[in-house]
Amino acid sequence: MKPADPSSLPVRRLGLDDVPRCLDLAQDRSWPREERKWRLLLEYGEGFGIDAPDGDGLAGTTILTRYGGTAAAVGMMLVASRYSGRGLGRRLLNHALAEAGDATVFLCATEYGRPLYEKLGFETVDMIHACVGRFDAGDGAHGGSGRERNATRLAEPGRDLAALCALDAEVFGADRSGLLARLFDFAEQVRVAGRDGEITGYGASWRSGDRVFVGPVVAEDDETARALVTDLARDTDVRIRIDLGDRRTELISWISGHGVPQSSTTAFMVHGGRALPGDRSRLVASFMSALG
Ligand SMILES: CC(C)(COP(=O)(O)OP(=O)(O)OC[C@H]1O[C@@H](n2cnc3c(N)ncnc32)[C@H](O)[C@@H]1OP(=O)(O)O)[C@@H](O)C(=O)NCCC(=O)NCCS
Repeated sequence: MKPADPSSLPVRRLGLDDVPRCLDLAQDRSWPREERKWRLLLEYGEGFGIDAPDGDGLAGTTILTRYGGTAAAVGMMLVASRYSGRGLGRRLLNHALAEAGDATVFLCATEYGRPLYEKLGFETVDMIHACVGRFDAGDGAHGGSGRERNATRLAEPGRDLAALCALDAEVFGADRSGLLARLFDFAEQVRVAGRDGEITGYGASWRSGDRVFVGPVVAEDDETARALVTDLARDTDVRIRIDLGDRRTELISWISGHGVPQSSTTAFMVHGGRALPGDRSRLVASFMSALG
């Protein structure tokens, strides 16, 4: 019997039971086995996968995360190396795009994914620099003026969640409140910066594998961003990673001076080149590549 054409294999919804298979697929592509991250993404977003016709786990995955009806992120696009170049990536991405409906869809592309995304109508609107290293807070200053103005404090869900979601919606331009509510369990720290009782920024740090990720970070200016990042990263005993957009030149050079240089670059792409909603000038660091 002729083997099935992989590009016509059924796409199915992934659940938490699939996490071990997702981890194996990630490993096949030399991605780390990030269980906590996959769990969060599969719980909050919608995972789609193609079972390997040889019966050995998953041949491909993608995760679509919707923010209200207006915006959606695509992440975790993976096709097992033994099935690459046979149309599975195209099939999975087309499936996610169809599911996303009218939402503005965006993603972060590695050099491997970019050709496929361009073929399916994504356009690069920014470059994202992943900065990785052991953060050295130095003398504890934030590199700007006095600490008092930029004091940050640990956020408390009961006290801060509503204000934090309102600020995030203004900046991100779509409703991430469901995800932000989970952030308090997922993250090691969620911090807010404020002035006169008003929240002017927030940030989170979360652990995955042998790293602590700093993100999302939303801040009204670089000084507030530095204060948040410093307080989130100062006590970490491992390397941190923070993903900063191309226009954040001052922050990139500041954090590099604190032991966290640029390590890799991805393209931030939007389907159809559509304009993203919100006020992205205050969106300092993404949550993670798969979420924007
Ligand atoms: C990127 C990835 C998902 C692509 O999956 P795939 O199943 O091999 O891609 P497809 O076979 O569906 O390719 C679809 C189209 O994109 C093109 N394409 C895919 N990868 C390409 C590459 N690296 N260079 C040039 N063209 C490429 C194919 O030629 C094909 O074009 P066609 O349909 O006009 O013939 C897969 O290579 C992968 O998992 N890579 C490692 C993990 C990774 O980097 N993922 C992307 C994260 S952003």
